[in-house]
Amino acid sequence: MQTTTNLVLDKTLYNRGLIHYHKIDWDKTPHMTTIGASGTGKTFLNKLIIARVSMKIPNSSITVLDFKADDYHFARSCKNLYEFDKVQEGLEAYYQEFLLRQQGRDTDRSFKLLVIEELGSMMGYFDKKVVESMKMMIANITFMGRSVNFHLLVSTQRPDTTYFKAGVRDSLGVVIALGSLSKEGKSMMFNDFKDEMTEAQGQGSGYLTNGVELYSIKVPHVKDVAKLEHYIKQALNG
Ligand SMILES: Nc1ncnc2c1ncn2[C@@H]1O[C@H](COP(=O)(O)OP(=O)(O)OP(=O)(O)O)[C@@H](O)[C@H]1O
Ligand SMILES: [Mg+2]
Repeated sequence: MQTTTNLVLDKTLYNRGLIHYHKIDWDKTPHMTTIGASGTGKTFLNKLIIARVSMKIPNSSITVLDFKADDYHFARSCKNLYEFDKVQEGLEAYYQEFLLRQQGRDTDRSFKLLVIEELGSMMGYFDKKVVESMKMMIANITFMGRSVNFHLLVSTQRPDTTYFKAGVRDSLGVVIALGSLSKEGKSMMFNDFKDEMTEAQGQGSGYLTNGVELYSIKVPHVKDVAKLEHYIKQALNG
């Protein structure tokens, strides 16, 4: 079973004329996060990741929570796109499916990915009780998702410890930061490597860590937007 997808280009090698992709093996590293200030290209990258999963992983199904209701207009007819205040319903629906597998009532093990765009804005909107329950669902999927093939891609402008229950941050195995990250952001998401992150990074470039190594990276160009959107819609209807 294919469980590995390309993520981003190695920027150091790219600058020497070599194309090398950093990948994620979703079976070994079930969850990831993309962070960076507004406009650095998180959504652009998230869409690429969604399209690649859709293309490469058979029977994959993806749910997108787009609180800003801004970036997935083209997929509005898809059943697994939840916008603005519907994101709560989307998270609950994904969690219910996760529980069915967890409890053995669903023996299917096809690949499922939940993409949360702008976790910070989403959590800022709902009241405390709802946010606590969202954090609980995210934590349980993070800790127990792998064995039932449930995965998370969490994206936010500003990483903040208050968004996560204890231990969740450390379980987001692959971290990609785009643009320049604040000192706090580096400490929280890249602790061991924070002093090595000295290169200037802008839109579509930044750093990736898998916890073991740090890489300077670049988001590849998308030549065919129609094809990208086709694969995103396919996964959002899965
Ligand atoms: N790697 C890239 N190559 C070409 N264009 C890009 C790239 N990354 C981002 N862009 C363009 O820059 C703009 C902002 O990108 P995007 O919406 O992905 O940023 P964002 O980090 O998600 O911002 P926000 O936090 O406000 O949601 C978009 O119009 C997008 O098409
Ligand atoms: Mg965005």
